[in-house]
Amino acid sequence: MLLNAILDHQVVFFGGKGGVGKTTCSSAFALAASRRGQRVLLVSTDPAHSTSDIFETTIGPEERELLPRLSALEIDGGREAARYVAGVKADIQRMFSPGVVRQANRQIDMAAQSPGLSEVALLDRMIDLIAGRGTSYDTVVFDTAPTGHTLHLLRMPDAISAWILALVRHRRAVIEIDRGMEQSREEAAAADPVLAALERRHERLTELRTIVTDRARTTFVLVAVPERLVIEETARAADELGETGIAVGGLIVNRVLPEGLEGEFYQSRKAQEAVYLQEIQRRFPRLPRVIVQQLPRDVYGRDSLALVSAQLVA
Ligand SMILES: Nc1ncnc2c1ncn2[C@@H]1O[C@H](COP(=O)(O)OP(=O)(O)OP(=O)(O)O)[C@@H](O)[C@H]1O
Ligand SMILES: [Mg+2]
Repeated sequence: MLLNAILDHQVVFFGGKGGVGKTTCSSAFALAASRRGQRVLLVSTDPAHSTSDIFETTIGPEERELLPRLSALEIDGGREAARYVAGVKADIQRMFSPGVVRQANRQIDMAAQSPGLSEVALLDRMIDLIAGRGTSYDTVVFDTAPTGHTLHLLRMPDAISAWILALVRHRRAVIEIDRGMEQSREEAAAADPVLAALERRHERLTELRTIVTDRARTTFVLVAVPERLVIEETARAADELGETGIAVGGLIVNRVLPEGLEGEFYQSRKAQEAVYLQEIQRRFPRLPRVIVQQLPRDVYGRDSLALVSAQLVA
């Protein structure tokens, strides 16, 4: 079983427990897709980026072409948060008088301290990459952070949407009160651009939601290794993705020991592995499963990546 069926997807997420091989498999998949002629963008959203290491080059926060048809970037949450805050401030500066701007900036600086901001900013950049650029790439491949964080991020559009709608309602009420109290005309006029900005933001989130829940366009590949705790976490992730409405297109079982080795240590590991492989089959009967063998060395550089690619895509 291989991942050929998901090659034509517009967005492919790779996720799983820490250290199972998400970066290795997403990079190998991106490489395989680009070699088959697709224009691919590989995006790392994990704060501990390692796509640079695996391609043995520096990948920064801006898109960079690594190989023909294969570009990559590493999203930096802190940098995106700063950019996001600067963007909001610039919007407000355009719309309001200096007095209002000073007050608003104080509020924004306070909001910028909140722990969720870098996630909101990260999501915003993901929207740009997924929704904003229809034709530059055929496929955007995401190497995500370990499961919990990614699921949280993918569930955010709903939470943020609800929050924005509440803001919109609040804003409408404020406009009405202001008008009733005959506030300055500037404030009444300024109220509309704020509403418009909120509504634009809401539309972008809705667009993201539409794309990631469309199983013809977006799929999530779970990466696991044949070990007990990993299997449990993978099962939870599969359930949660299902609830979020995101299709799981495949399960990579990575680091499976090669056949035909000898010795007691190997026999013992192989016997335990067989139990977990059966368990995986029993727990995920409907998911297309792909086995990737444990290689003799860590996976670095194009040649060893290609060895993994060959096991993912034919
Ligand atoms: N099939 C394999 N054979 C040999 N080594 C592998 C294999 N898959 C992954 N590795 C090695 O295991 C280590 C972890 O892999 P990787 O960085 O891809 O995991 P990850 O899930 O992205 O980790 P993190 O959760 O920290 O982001 C790396 O050193 C990688 O080279
Ligand atoms: Mg990684």
